[in-house]
Amino acid sequence: MKKLLGLVCCSILALNSFGQNIKDGGIAIIPEPVTLSKTVGEFVLPKKVIIVTSTQPELKQAIALLHDRLSIPTGSHVSVLNSSAVATVRLILNKKADTVLGKEGYRLSVTKKGIIIRANEPAGLFYGAQTLVQLFPKEIVGNIVKNIRWVSPCVQITDYPRFKWRGLMFDVARHFFTKAEVEQYIDNMVKYKFNLLHMHLTDDEGWRVEIKSLPRLTTVGAYNVKKVGYFGTFAAPGPDEPRTYGGFYTQDDIRELVQYAKERFVNILPEIDVPGHSLAAVVAYPELSCTPGADQYHVRSGEKFMEFTKDGIKAGIDNTLCPANEKVYDFLDKVLTEVAQLFPFGYIHMGGDECAKNFWEKSPEIAALMQKEGLKTQEEVQSYFEKRVEKIVESKGKKFLGWDEILEGGIAPDAIVMSWRGMKGGIEAAKMGHEVVMSPTTFAYLDYMNGDPAIEPHVYETLRLSRAYEFDPAPDSVNSKLIIGGQANLWTEQVYNVRHLEYMTWPRAFAISEAVWSPKSRRNFDDFFSRVEKHFDRFNVAETKYAPSVYDPIFTFKSLPDSSVQVEMATEVKGLDIHYSFDNSFPDQFYPKYTAPLIVPKEAAMLKVITYRGDKQVGRMIYLPAKMLKDRATGKNNNE
Ligand code: ACM
Repeated sequence: MKKLLGLVCCSILALNSFGQNIKDGGIAIIPEPVTLSKTVGEFVLPKKVIIVTSTQPELKQAIALLHDRLSIPTGSHVSVLNSSAVATVRLILNKKADTVLGKEGYRLSVTKKGIIIRANEPAGLFYGAQTLVQLFPKEIVGNIVKNIRWVSPCVQITDYPRFKWRGLMFDVARHFFTKAEVEQYIDNMVKYKFNLLHMHLTDDEGWRVEIKSLPRLTTVGAYNVKKVGYFGTFAAPGPDEPRTYGGFYTQDDIRELVQYAKERFVNILPEIDVPGHSLAAVVAYPELSCTPGADQYHVRSGEKFMEFTKDGIKAGIDNTLCPANEKVYDFLDKVLTEVAQLFPFGYIHMGGDECAKNFWEKSPEIAALMQKEGLKTQEEVQSYFEKRVEKIVESKGKKFLGWDEILEGGIAPDAIVMSWRGMKGGIEAAKMGHEVVMSPTTFAYLDYMNGDPAIEPHVYETLRLSRAYEFDPAPDSVNSKLIIGGQANLWTEQVYNVRHLEYMTWPRAFAISEAVWSPKSRRNFDDFFSRVEKHFDRFNVAETKYAPSVYDPIFTFKSLPDSSVQVEMATEVKGLDIHYSFDNSFPDQFYPKYTAPLIVPKEAAMLKVITYRGDKQVGRMIYLPAKMLKDRATGKNNNE
């Protein structure tokens, strides 16, 4: 009777939360689950933990995750049993499918007595386990035993994704990252229920996947000259500078990566970016070029060679494969035969973006092809190429996918479009009946600066967390059935190491995870940010880097008629104070607080600003020299 009474109380007191208010028991789950009810009480982790589950190999990672997290930082002893009347955590694969959950959903019940996760498929149990880890104190992600209360609030959660394609793109071509580093990236992405890793494997700076029938792709094409600084501005390397920087994945590496990802319910989408962005391939096999002299080219080391103007893209050297050359299609057939065998995922991404056509315009072979095929524009030449490539991809049993440029000049019949130049291309493709993955620069480009250029490592654009949070892969105007999902893209021209890779990914990938997993109706930036801060704490414990840029101010500059400069400042999140100085000294919470637009004193050398929450510094010291203020006010170098 007592037990029954407890149960009744639990259900009466259940708080059906709309958005998780972290004040209610510290719950801070990302991505936001579909439904979460907090019930009264807490679950206390015992010293002896019993996980009861079946032994399918597909459950290995869910079990490993729970085993490690419930033992390493807690000091508890965890045993995993096939059956037992008592269980601390029970993982149950439904015998009869729960139609609400689909393939990746789960129900998680945490009561005082124990924890049950149910799902139709192993992926659901894995995601349920990830959510469970987020319910315990932040120290759960650490690797040092902590003597704290290991408790989780009691909750009932039902959860499943909004989209089946929840991706992150990792450019391993501009800078090479090792297999272990890619695995580490996968480990972090699955904590936030991403299920698709798009590997950008080829570009002007390197070819990263071994193709046994074309060995020069990696013996020659995988290496350039190491340069440090602002990629894109480097001087051309001299003939004696060693071309030893880079690397590639052997076919065994790829098989291991694919297996690693698969065990964590991640598909790897390989991208072979053609016909543009192909300098590494052209250097390895110059006969693939339309342009005489390609045998003198080198794999790019970050020197400037493309111009993006309103009239189009111009390359200084011909970094394209030649659509008029039959050898190119034989080459791609060989590449795709091996790529299709290496990557079991059903799609191959064939790039198609930013193809400079200024060398094609001068090529007699291209002119002859245009005549023969009745092609009127260079876009139609690319479209001819894409349609032939689609056939090759399909001959390997795969679906053909490309960036939204593949729409130009006529899209291949069954192509899937990845929309990056905003949502427009994706909407257009969906209207034509093509499947679409949304990954627009406007919301989902992780290579863009996290905040103000005065403090961020320089890139030509900024994408703030709050803007990323506005990403909706399927706006109401589109037939959402054809939007199979969304992803964020991390290009690595300016990313030289793993710590910076993490800085560029998080917290914006939290926002993207919510865009592709959580119901639209449950999304709210203030609530989201309160949870993000809890995950910052977790990242600190896990020693994973993230960008704190969300705490730094947003500046607006204006040039006044008397040519003085006005500065307006705002914060991206609520509850912060901005303190500033014009006298070169370092402001703190005792300095003037920004309340209204400021006029820069005529002879001031610099503005320094910092943000506080109460008496706690949260932002970084930002230094803006007077010249920068003037330039930005007058529209010069707005992003510098
Ligand atoms: C792209 O960002 N060039 C797809």
